[in-house]
Amino acid sequence: MFSDDVRCLVVVGAQWGDEGKGKVVDVLAEQATIVARYQGGANAGHTVRVGEDEFILHLIPSGILYPEARCLLGNGVVIDPWTLAKEMAGLRERGIDLDGRIGISRRAHLVLPYHRTLDAAQERSRGSAKIGTTGRGIGPTYRDKIARTGLRVGDLKDLKRTRTIVSDGANRANVVLRGLKDEARVECDAVMSSIEEVRSMMLDLCADTGDEIRAELGVGGRVLLEGAQGAMLDVDHGTYPFVTSSTTTAGGAAVGVGIGPTAIDEVLGVVKAYITRVGAGPLPTELPEKEAERLRQLGGEFGATTGRPRRPGWFDGPVARYASGVNGLTALAITKLDVLDTFDAVKIATGYELDGAPVGAFPDSVEDLGAVVPVYETCSGWNADTTGCRTMGELPTAARQYLGRLEEASGTPIRIVGVGAARGATIRVSDAGIAAA
Ligand code: IMO
Ligand code: MG
Repeated sequence: MFSDDVRCLVVVGAQWGDEGKGKVVDVLAEQATIVARYQGGANAGHTVRVGEDEFILHLIPSGILYPEARCLLGNGVVIDPWTLAKEMAGLRERGIDLDGRIGISRRAHLVLPYHRTLDAAQERSRGSAKIGTTGRGIGPTYRDKIARTGLRVGDLKDLKRTRTIVSDGANRANVVLRGLKDEARVECDAVMSSIEEVRSMMLDLCADTGDEIRAELGVGGRVLLEGAQGAMLDVDHGTYPFVTSSTTTAGGAAVGVGIGPTAIDEVLGVVKAYITRVGAGPLPTELPEKEAERLRQLGGEFGATTGRPRRPGWFDGPVARYASGVNGLTALAITKLDVLDTFDAVKIATGYELDGAPVGAFPDSVEDLGAVVPVYETCSGWNADTTGCRTMGELPTAARQYLGRLEEASGTPIRIVGVGAARGATIRVSDAGIAAA
């Protein structure tokens, strides 16, 4: 994917998250000099398998497993410092050298304990209208950021300033908690002593992440921008209000690390060969429970962050086409094709109908998206183990045909196909494309 012409590559989820971005980023990170996260926080759960070892990363970019890559958390990320400390300790324990390899933006906002408290209390108060958040304090942290009341990493060097922001934040949190009739309360002093535990670690990691990335691109380095969540969870383009609170789509990558959109050369969208969603909100191709359970077990579809069972469905063409448009995708990576190896038939939604009429533009309300009826095309299954395939030519014909249909349904060329969790279980599609194999 990287080449002389492609030096800044964005990898985004093009469904509802959990598309296998971690594995794709890990594979591409081998050629990158910098890997950076640009939005989201520890709500992400990126799983990477290296040999027999499995790593689940929430904050640190998936590039960390290659010894050379420098890993940055850009200004658009919301950083929970205690989770970051734990994640770093866990990686060190497993022999990963982190020295000088992680940098965090002074402009990034901190997720504080009261953001988590508020996230949980708000979810409790919503009752059956819950969003099903990951409970990591993401929404309340971005709310503080946009309201201009957040605590940024750079503020930590000034303890007095930090205390003022935290004290105001704790007071506001308690007003909200009382308003929600929630029993939880937060205390400024307790938050300040927790901050004391991580303050010097955070200050030591500070870097001019935007400058670093711009400079790296200036000298011909290769920068990989790792998205979290997916297009359908984007705060603007996703299934609002059942979304996360950040710009998950590719435009957010420029803003979230501090480069211009013209610096981005390629946008690779990651989709599973089927679809899943975790949390509430419409999912047009959702499978009935019995079939869903089969796919869930075969695909190991349980949340990497919360352990919740994911909701599986057939590949949704309209979602992929829409995600391709709002991200400006230049290529697709299809993951977990092997999960479908034992199905006699596999389905693809090629369009939607609403009240018997074809739906044109992708629905912009959850009511409409919840009411659409997918139009399915059935493809024959391949009933063969694809996990050992390393070229398109080695894939069974029916699997290749299925991929061809995914490409047509999404209107985006497939460049990478994943056939297992291992690093090597990856097929690169040549420029000639799927049909040439
Ligand atoms: P990765 O990066 C899948 C979902 C939550 C919930 C909604 C809002 O691993 O793909 P939040 O905690 O962000 O306020 O929750 O977004 N969600 C994810 N779903 N993968 C993720 O990350 C997600 N991060 C958040 O389940 O529906
Ligand atoms: Mg995940």
